[in-house]
Amino acid sequence: MEKLASRMGRLGTETAFDVLVKAKALEARGRSVVHLELGEPDFDTPSNVIQAANSAMEEGYTHYCASAGLVELREAIADHVGQTRSVNIDPDWVVVTPGAKPIMFFLILALVEEGDEVIYPNPGFPIYESMIRFCGGTPVPLPLLEEFEFRFDPEQLESKVSSKTKLIIINSPQNPTGGLLTENDLATVADLATRHDITVLADEIYSCIIYEGEHRSITSIPGMMDRTVILDGFSKTFAMTGWRLGYGIMRPELQTHISKLVTNSVSCTAPFAQRAGLEALANAGGATASMVAEFRKRRDFLVEALNRIPGMSCLYPPGAFYVFPNVRSFGKSSDEIADYLLQEAGVALLSGTAFGAFGEGYLRLSYATSMENLAEGSQRIADGLARL
Ligand SMILES: Cc1ncc(COP(=O)(O)O)c(C=O)c1O
Repeated sequence: MEKLASRMGRLGTETAFDVLVKAKALEARGRSVVHLELGEPDFDTPSNVIQAANSAMEEGYTHYCASAGLVELREAIADHVGQTRSVNIDPDWVVVTPGAKPIMFFLILALVEEGDEVIYPNPGFPIYESMIRFCGGTPVPLPLLEEFEFRFDPEQLESKVSSKTKLIIINSPQNPTGGLLTENDLATVADLATRHDITVLADEIYSCIIYEGEHRSITSIPGMMDRTVILDGFSKTFAMTGWRLGYGIMRPELQTHISKLVTNSVSCTAPFAQRAGLEALANAGGATASMVAEFRKRRDFLVEALNRIPGMSCLYPPGAFYVFPNVRSFGKSSDEIADYLLQEAGVALLSGTAFGAFGEGYLRLSYATSMENLAEGSQRIADGLARL
């Protein structure tokens, strides 16, 4: 048997995929399961975007292309990001990747040395911590607190910064809580990053899915575009998770290195998918707006339904498509409750700890599913918890 490199022992995962497998196994045995675990829009990719990909394939966009992405898409992304963040950027700030996730991996790989510290949100997207550990860095969790509407305590952030801090990761709107950072929060991060010469990774993948307030990017703060890498993409905004199309925005000196990692790993992003992305940016904003309007109705319905369950309490998240209810009063761990609800009530959802230790006491439900499923799912949760 081959012996694995020790770094493989430091690689984490995304539990959502494990829960999906367990739920499918139950379904294969004839059980009915309501799926509230997956973080992807249930809407179809807009038809004009699909059409653009079909045409692109006919036109021959079926070969390798530049690692950093097609020039026309990088231009369109630079325009889009420039307008939505009130910054000026050129196409050579853009690197296109198969999904936005590789930007996390490549950036951490490019910046973080053994012993460097990375501050990241907890509860937060599990791949941050996984990649920090895998690359030899030291993960420094920044708790997101319900009493701060799932934002961080600025004093706590300051106390986490050390001479070894290389990178601060922020995510707004946030997965798994749906929380949104305020202008003050961003100013705190910007101030610390500037004073201690730290790079910021701003995961803005949910920037178009906001119900209250508006998206603020840390890059709008003077001087911050130079020390920030924006991660964004098409998966959530245009219901394109399976297309694998995302991007990073960063200083050209860093962009060349990240592009080199693209060359070394995946060569490039499928060019016909990039042409579809071009169409999405130009002509699918209406589809996003309708999707967000529908998500808002579902959010309101689900939060109300969950708050009617004795012992459960749930904030109205201002963004993304997740709710993060508090289940502490049930006196069991989040893992136990999530497992119980899957096995005994037929509802697939995630334990808060799937997003880190500070998710204990919470569950994560995705409302990227139909109203019927939300009605059935919340009823099953109410009945299941009443029997717990
Ligand atoms: C916070 C966050 N960042 C990034 C991603 C990755 O998105 P993509 O599908 O573009 O790789 C996700 C997907 O779930 C996410 O929740």
